[in-house]
Amino acid sequence: MKTLHLALILLSLSGVLTQDSGWGVKYTDNLTSAVRGSSVSIPCSYYYPTSNIQVTQRLWCSMNSNTERCTAPPYVYNSASNTTSDFEYVGDDKSNCTLLIHNVQFSYSGEYRFRFITDVPNGKWTGQPGVTLQVTDSENPKDLENLDRWSVWMIVGVTAGVIVIVSVILGAAIYIRRKGSLHESGSVHTVQQKEDDSQVYANVQQTEDDHNIYANV
Ligand SMILES: *[C@@H]1O[C@H](CO)[C@@H](O)[C@H](O)[C@H]1NC(C)=O
Ligand SMILES: *[C@@H]1O[C@H](CO)[C@@H](O)[C@H](O)[C@H]1NC(C)=O
Ligand SMILES: *[C@@H]1O[C@H](CO)[C@@H](O)[C@H](O)[C@H]1NC(C)=O
Repeated sequence: MKTLHLALILLSLSGVLTQDSGWGVKYTDNLTSAVRGSSVSIPCSYYYPTSNIQVTQRLWCSMNSNTERCTAPPYVYNSASNTTSDFEYVGDDKSNCTLLIHNVQFSYSGEYRFRFITDVPNGKWTGQPGVTLQVTDSENPKDLENLDRWSVWMIVGVTAGVIVIVSVILGAAIYIRRKGSLHESGSVHTVQQKEDDSQVYANVQQTEDDHNIYANV
């Protein structure tokens, strides 16, 4: 019983090992972001069971225009074709499948997958899921978002402050005007108030008028 268990463990272990040394594509990150107009590198490596296998074709595809294992075109990079584009293959034909994307555009946002084809029958592999590229408009979109929220509150705060200050000034102006007009329309004042007023305005021309009015009462 014990030996059977050990055999099973060894079997599953060897299964894991052969899978690891088998076929595959590894991406350093499954998510990467780039600023519009800049260049971004998508680090990538690939492997196959034996070193005497020849890699005959290397492909990169975009999930914006392709599906699943990208068995058919279009490709953003195809080692069998001679076209130059923003998608430059900077890897090799052995194990490095790094892709360098130049002059990144918003439309380049999306998932990219690497596929390689070898000289052995059915010796083809696509690394999925691939790497998702997010194209942004500035270095740190999170900071910009916070800054935007902050400036909105700044504008609200400053506006409220200005309204309060203007209200206070207007209120003071109205109060001063009212007070002033109360002094001028002296004829409606009571005798007691009149006397106080004439004391305050003793040296002013207006006071003489007030005195005249007072004298007429
Ligand atoms: C990227 O990897 C992380 C952790 O390995 C995983 O949780 C996440 O779902 C992956 N994202 C995508 C888009 O595959
Ligand atoms: C790629 O173009 C170069 C010249 O620009 C040519 O010599 C070469 O044969 C072409 N290769 C393929 C695969 O078309
Ligand atoms: C793959 O190639 C790129 C570009 O030449 C290089 O920067 C990177 O270090 C290579 N990766 C490995 C694992 O050698």
